[in-house]
Amino acid sequence: MLSKIKAWASMPWYAMQVLTGQKAFKGNPILTSERLNRRGLHVWRVRTAHRLAAYRRRKLEHLVAAEDREAFDRNGYIERRDLLPPDRFRQVMKEVESLRMPAREMYEGNAVTRRTPLTPDVLANMPALRALLDSAEWKNRISYVGSFRNEPVLSIQTIFSDASPREKGKDPQTNLHMDTFHPTVKAWYFLHDIVEEEGPFTYVPGSHKLTRRRLAWQKRKSILASRKADGGSFRLQATDLKYLRLPQPTVFSVPANTLVVGDTFGFHARGPSSRPSVRIEIYATQRPNPFIPFVNLDSAVLPFVRGRKQVIPWYFEDLLLKLGIGRRRWYPVGAPAPGEPVPQAEG
Ligand SMILES: [Fe+2]
Repeated sequence: MLSKIKAWASMPWYAMQVLTGQKAFKGNPILTSERLNRRGLHVWRVRTAHRLAAYRRRKLEHLVAAEDREAFDRNGYIERRDLLPPDRFRQVMKEVESLRMPAREMYEGNAVTRRTPLTPDVLANMPALRALLDSAEWKNRISYVGSFRNEPVLSIQTIFSDASPREKGKDPQTNLHMDTFHPTVKAWYFLHDIVEEEGPFTYVPGSHKLTRRRLAWQKRKSILASRKADGGSFRLQATDLKYLRLPQPTVFSVPANTLVVGDTFGFHARGPSSRPSVRIEIYATQRPNPFIPFVNLDSAVLPFVRGRKQVIPWYFEDLLLKLGIGRRRWYPVGAPAPGEPVPQAEG
């Protein structure tokens, strides 16, 4: 009886989540309802979020050059080689290589992802990187692709492929997948040449488009996920690209000093590594509520939030752990240089 009352009392909260970026097919009886998803709930969320993103992007069109817009429309990403002049690139490299700031790591399969957050105090001693992150070249492309003029979550990201002694399993990021049900942005500014054997980023060009086939595919996936209580980052099966009439993924084995800004509603993966490797990049994401129609509603107007979007969730993780109700995902690893291996944090 009590649990029934509790379930009913939670209904308004669950209903509200329909209009958020909540993507997991578990926990919420509305979002995970097979009956509702058969009747098109998931499809409605996908379609509405895409319409709103297109509307917001139109408002941000002036921020990027026509050639970038065309490339994005066609492929779902913008690739810009030689982003910085050589001397400024060398300065950024020098700053990154000499950085010793607190970082955390996450372990997935045999891959280690390290993030060194670019908070205001870290950037205080990195004038060249700060200038890049303040530049229109960097900010405007991320705003346009993400369809919000918000400050992104910022860090130096290091991927150690085939490096985790903890799990020798497959890195789940090597499966082609979409991140979530709505348009969203990730950006990578590569600091080293990326070779094909070392797990480069791959992206299926054109897979950001919401075609009729894609909507049908989304619907089928949502029904299957409702049955299985699954995550919302749908993965592709071998035959899906053919069904969706999409090409094979583009492999970004690009030179250092290349920026890639992509909509990760499109299908992407980390290419497999045939040898252990270390990749360092300046990494940005941005994922506000996709049902907000405004382009300028940013929590970074609050002084405590500005520049700290990467670390705030970590503070919450620490707090929940202290209260004994959380699970550690991001392990503190001291203050190593971004590409310097450290012994794995205890889990
Ligand atoms: Fe992803």
